[in-house]
Amino acid sequence: MKSLVHYIGTQELQAFLRHHPVPQVIDAIAGYIESDYLRWHAFDKTARLASHSKIGVIELMPISDGQLYSFKYVNGHPANTAAGLLTVTAFGVLADVETGYPRLLSELTITTALRTAATSLLAARAMARKGSRVMALIGNGAQSEFQAIAFHCLLGIDEIRVFDVDPAATDKLCANLRAYAQLTVRRAASVAEAVQGADIVTTVTADKRNALIVTPEMVAPGMHFNAVGGDCPGKTELHPAILAQARVVVEFEPQSRIEGELQQMPADFAVTELWQVLHGQATGRGSDAEVTVFDSVGFALEDFSALRYLDTHLSDYAQVIGLIPQLTDPKNLYGAIAPHSPAVRIPELVSLIKEVE
Ligand SMILES: NC(=O)c1ccc[n+]([C@@H]2O[C@H](COP(=O)([O-])OP(=O)(O)OC[C@H]3O[C@@H](n4cnc5c(N)ncnc54)[C@H](O)[C@@H]3O)[C@@H](O)[C@H]2O)c1
Repeated sequence: MKSLVHYIGTQELQAFLRHHPVPQVIDAIAGYIESDYLRWHAFDKTARLASHSKIGVIELMPISDGQLYSFKYVNGHPANTAAGLLTVTAFGVLADVETGYPRLLSELTITTALRTAATSLLAARAMARKGSRVMALIGNGAQSEFQAIAFHCLLGIDEIRVFDVDPAATDKLCANLRAYAQLTVRRAASVAEAVQGADIVTTVTADKRNALIVTPEMVAPGMHFNAVGGDCPGKTELHPAILAQARVVVEFEPQSRIEGELQQMPADFAVTELWQVLHGQATGRGSDAEVTVFDSVGFALEDFSALRYLDTHLSDYAQVIGLIPQLTDPKNLYGAIAPHSPAVRIPELVSLIKEVE
């Protein structure tokens, strides 16, 4: 029935992931994201709508291809972890444009980590030097395992140098990566130590300020930066001089000018959009010596793709929920509530009658 809405919560996704290995799921989501980026012009695109507070942001991310519409609700509150809460939580909806009816309401907190790793992977496949083997991973929080697993299992990274200002976060990451026996994980004492000799540098820190996580003297020719954590006005990770010397690829330029590392650069600083690289209209890397930056902020299209993936592959795990009334006569919305009204009123009547008696 068209009005039935599927629901995928954390438990449903966990059940699915018990039978589907994470690398396989990230790879499949990357396939969905790539196929949607390849039909870039089919989408009605807009920069996300952000509501900022001093310590965080709540964003709505809508997009449509004319057949399906999706939005994601997502927050970013770096101080949350000190209170035992996630920095990033999310949920989203996939709807049919023809009727406007929602078809899927889903958790997107874990899914965001999967789709962000998938997008990083797509960019790195096109931008990192072939044969990249060593990655520095700066920021070892909620997103970090997903990035590490994607780059190890799907790009050929076999050594990861990890650093976080919070040693407990690094302990957690190292423990979670122990299952990947072919991956060497080395703890670094500083960002500079982690970055030295790395082919790829993934920054995935959370701090609402213009942080200088990586500075120009740490950069070596040919490095690829996968800059994930700077995704909000006033929240960046790379020194602007690194961008000035690099080939910079963004997701959706109007949004990245406001939110990405790009916010630090002049308005006419040239960038390429990811779809152009994936489409073969632009190159992701000009030479082995070139420094490349994927300035990731997260774009609605990636959530649209992830929701499509969930909609297709998790239908056996999803619940059907009564989000939309089921009506035999769609003009009789009142009929959906009328049958219950007497049940509410009868006890009231009984007590009134008793009072009168
Ligand atoms: N681009 C995207 O699509 C995308 C998607 C999801 C999350 N994000 C962003 O990625 C970032 C990380 O998200 P998360 O869910 O892992 O957050 P998290 O809070 O779980 O982890 C962030 C980690 O960064 C560490 N950190 C902070 N400052 C640091 C510094 N100067 N040097 C080293 N480590 C530092 C913290 O100690 C923490 O362990 C956030 O800023 C989030 O907004 C981006």
